[in-house]
Amino acid sequence: MVDNYNRVIDYIRISITDRCNLRCIYCMPKEGMEFIPHENILTYEEIIRLCKCFAALGMSKVKLTGGEPLVRKNLPYLVKEIKSISGIQNVTLTTNGILLSDQIEDLAKAGIDAVNISLDTLDPDEFEQLTRFRKLDQVLEGIKETLKYNIAVKINCVPLREDYNNNNILSMVSLAKNQKLHVRFIEVMPIGLGKDLKGVTEEDIKEIIEKEYGTLTPYKASLGNGPCHYYSLEGFQGKIGFISAVTHQFCDSCNRVRLTSEGYLKNCLQYANGIDIKSLMRQGINDEALSEVIREAISHKPKEHHFKAIINKEKEVNHLSHIQEDGEQ
Ligand code: GTP
Ligand code: 5AD
Ligand code: SF4
Repeated sequence: MVDNYNRVIDYIRISITDRCNLRCIYCMPKEGMEFIPHENILTYEEIIRLCKCFAALGMSKVKLTGGEPLVRKNLPYLVKEIKSISGIQNVTLTTNGILLSDQIEDLAKAGIDAVNISLDTLDPDEFEQLTRFRKLDQVLEGIKETLKYNIAVKINCVPLREDYNNNNILSMVSLAKNQKLHVRFIEVMPIGLGKDLKGVTEEDIKEIIEKEYGTLTPYKASLGNGPCHYYSLEGFQGKIGFISAVTHQFCDSCNRVRLTSEGYLKNCLQYANGIDIKSLMRQGINDEALSEVIREAISHKPKEHHFKAIINKEKEVNHLSHIQEDGEQ
């Protein structure tokens, strides 16, 4: 599928639940949120039907996200079904890793292609401050287990300009030294609770890394389907990546759209509005009409987000009150 700005849209991010077993400070309030009732969440059968439509429209890459996707029962079944759809080449997962060591064997059997694990610190106290749970060991165990299955692993780290996370960049980078995994630093985005937090910019992180580990050499080959750009460090097995939606905006090469757990098709991370696909399906829309609705929606994907304007508070931007997809993005 090509949108109105000539971007090829071949990557669909599907949130399968809004629930989570952590409460990261940039994502969810401590007390949790009002979660969506189960009957309003897309069933696996509805997701599979939609994936068949997406595949027929030329989407070949599927990312399963949340909330925390592993809190939903029987995820390996969903992975296996999506993998078996003609045209789908790649099914990957983004998780906080807490439940990974229990489930990775079945996910591997189901054919999961890669796993991204969110981890912002290697210090147990900082981990607890950031996520409100003392569960660092489970995440580390999840990483270890996943690597055993020879599945591509990427670590997502969102460094915050708070004392407790600032010195942590080098220890996060060191994960990629002797292990076959990539470490990515994500600039905090002004969405949801992230609006009130200050992240660390790509340039600042690079400076910290280069002082300790030498030159970051741009790595041109692709390591996934997302907006990350990567660098090599001499002597390191894994690459170091940056997802810098604010300082290195990547909208002009955006290749993706999102499906929320409640069944809204969203064209862009920033905007709350979306098409209520679930209601159409539950009202009995046929496959042909469903594909047409999706095609039409995607063709109207907006040109770009306005994160800079939000941060600088220069511009009035619509739809800002509820812009998170489902906890995570
Ligand atoms: P792979 O590299 O193929 O694994 O994909 P990915 O980087 O898209 O996966 P992941 O789910 O790990 O996303 C990493 C970060 O990128 C998350 O913080 C996402 O919110 C962010 N991200 C992904 N897509 C977009 C996007 O379209 N716009 C913005 N601003 N951020 C995005
Ligand atoms: N800004 C940047 N990254 C975020 N994530 C969640 N909320 C934000 C935000 N406001 C990250 C999580 C996870 C990834 C899917 O999104 O840490 O790694
Ligand atoms: Fe859960 Fe991910 Fe949000 Fe953290 S960022 S609370 S792990 S959904």
